[in-house]
Amino acid sequence: MKDGRFVVIGDFQIVDKEKLVEMYASLPSEAVRWGMPPYTRDVIDRWVGNLQNLTILIAFYDDKIVGHAQLYKFPHPRRRGTADLVIYLHQDFHNQGLSTAMLTELSQPARSERLHRINLHVIADNEQAVHLYEKFSFTIEGRMKDSYLGEDGKYHDELAMFLILPSSTSPNQAP
Ligand SMILES: CC(C)(COP(=O)(O)OP(=O)(O)OC[C@H]1O[C@@H](n2cnc3c(N)ncnc32)[C@H](O)[C@@H]1OP(=O)(O)O)[C@@H](O)C(=O)NCCC(=O)NCCS
Repeated sequence: MKDGRFVVIGDFQIVDKEKLVEMYASLPSEAVRWGMPPYTRDVIDRWVGNLQNLTILIAFYDDKIVGHAQLYKFPHPRRRGTADLVIYLHQDFHNQGLSTAMLTELSQPARSERLHRINLHVIADNEQAVHLYEKFSFTIEGRMKDSYLGEDGKYHDELAMFLILPSSTSPNQAP
């Protein structure tokens, strides 16, 4: 990372689940300010419960998980080739280029699995995340006015963003 710490990025294995639960349990409210807390064991169980529809990368530092990026690949035939993106880092690892590295790494399986489109939702005030996604060529396609009630008690806008993968196969060409 930018500060010289060495983080290992790799595929998630189900044996890592407890460490993922621990990472989310260790996030203070500030780190999940623009998310959908609480990230309980039940939520993590649901997230990683169907591994065949998921591509998950995790970042390890000192045997602890400090980053989690995943693509949920929609199983329905009418959503074939589309996926939702989620990324979360431990707060001690923000602003070090880690999510840039994780999304770069995640683009490999996304391409090899011939994904066509990646979707995400982000709160408009989460400027760092919006910047990150735009850096990876995601486009804002819509703004959901006042769709998110923040911890400040105010409503905030949510952005729908998408990326069409350049080398993806269109459904008509797909085998
Ligand atoms: C959003 C998040 C994933 C970003 O990860 P990160 O590893 O800190 O991001 P990186 O260090 O790779 O890149 C940060 C970029 O944002 C920029 N940035 C930092 N603060 C910013 C701000 N307030 N506004 C705009 N850009 C900002 C940095 O300069 C850097 O840009 P650059 O690569 O062009 O120099 C991370 O902060 C996080 O996990 N946040 C909490 C969970 C979350 O909000 N997830 C997204 C839910 S949709």
